[in-house]
Amino acid sequence: MKDNHAVPDLVGGTPPYTVRRSREQMVRDVREGLTTTPKQLSPKYFYDERGSELFEEITQLPEYYLTRAERYLLEKKIPEIVASVGPCSLVELGAGSATKTRIILDAMRENGCAECYVPIDVSKDFLEATALQLQADYSDVRITPVVSDITEPFAIPPVASPTLVVFLGSTIGNFPRGQAVRLLSHVAGGMGPSDRFLLGADLVKDPEIINRAYNDSQGVTAAFNLNILERLNHELGADFPVQDFEHRAFYSTEHRRIEMHLVARSALIVVIPEIGEIRFREGESIRTELSYKYDRATLEDILAASGLSMESWMPAGDGAFALALSRVES
Ligand code: SAH
Ligand code: AVI
Repeated sequence: MKDNHAVPDLVGGTPPYTVRRSREQMVRDVREGLTTTPKQLSPKYFYDERGSELFEEITQLPEYYLTRAERYLLEKKIPEIVASVGPCSLVELGAGSATKTRIILDAMRENGCAECYVPIDVSKDFLEATALQLQADYSDVRITPVVSDITEPFAIPPVASPTLVVFLGSTIGNFPRGQAVRLLSHVAGGMGPSDRFLLGADLVKDPEIINRAYNDSQGVTAAFNLNILERLNHELGADFPVQDFEHRAFYSTEHRRIEMHLVARSALIVVIPEIGEIRFREGESIRTELSYKYDRATLEDILAASGLSMESWMPAGDGAFALALSRVES
């Protein structure tokens, strides 16, 4: 991978690489998101330690088909991808628990080169725990965690080429097109001709299947959504009455996306010390997440706009999910 130095707020040269100013940024984002209409919060704020744990629970739910579909595809396709790319380094955006990543690391080892793994994630404590566990299980691989917000330009420590950069779980879907292109352009800018980018993406399908995945019967997704308010209470001293908000998630066929909201059950006023009073009308909501669903043409278009050209499209047999392998456009 090419060195990317255009990142002012990277602190320290030793792992974990950490970004400054995250709390100030959070206050700014929350102020901006809750004082405009309609109210919204960035989904990156789901992922404190509790939020990351709840996401892990979501991945085990019978209704949440995404993780199972992607794992199945990785098991099937990774051996041939690793054999053709021959990566020595693996860089992962939004790594989370990196459970599926083990499929890739195992294949790299078997292929004879697994020097380094760089998991990048905004969820600091969870990332550090992931990295420690991986280092224990893969003692021959250098694990260099990077705590970073990928919606901002982020630095990747120098790693040996060829590098496989992966972005799994359809996390790309949480970024509207403009943001997705900005993020992928940054990734493409750091890639050399022998590097490859592997993207996992959820596909357009029967809306009922999608709606069920975001409205599970055990209420884990609701707890994940509501946890963002718990986090604002803990970290910013806000006084959100969490029980007075309810989870709502629905698929829009027009926009091909899930929208997740937190809806106020009654009119109420919330105080956030550094921000002030936030008023809610009965039924008013905060939009907390978008989760876009794709088809091949849309993804090819987003990749091309980011300077990446799709080399291989690998959909699951039932069309639920797909992997796409891309290279930088020459
Ligand atoms: N890749 C894993 C986890 C997906 S959950 C999987 O496929 O199961 C989304 C992950 O992206 C979480 O770990 C979350 O902390 C991380 N994430 C979300 N927004 C982010 C951002 N803006 N910057 C960095 N990481 C982010
Ligand atoms: C991480 N991301 C791809 C998940 C999704 O499906 O959009 C987050 C999530 N939200 C609700 N359930 C899972």
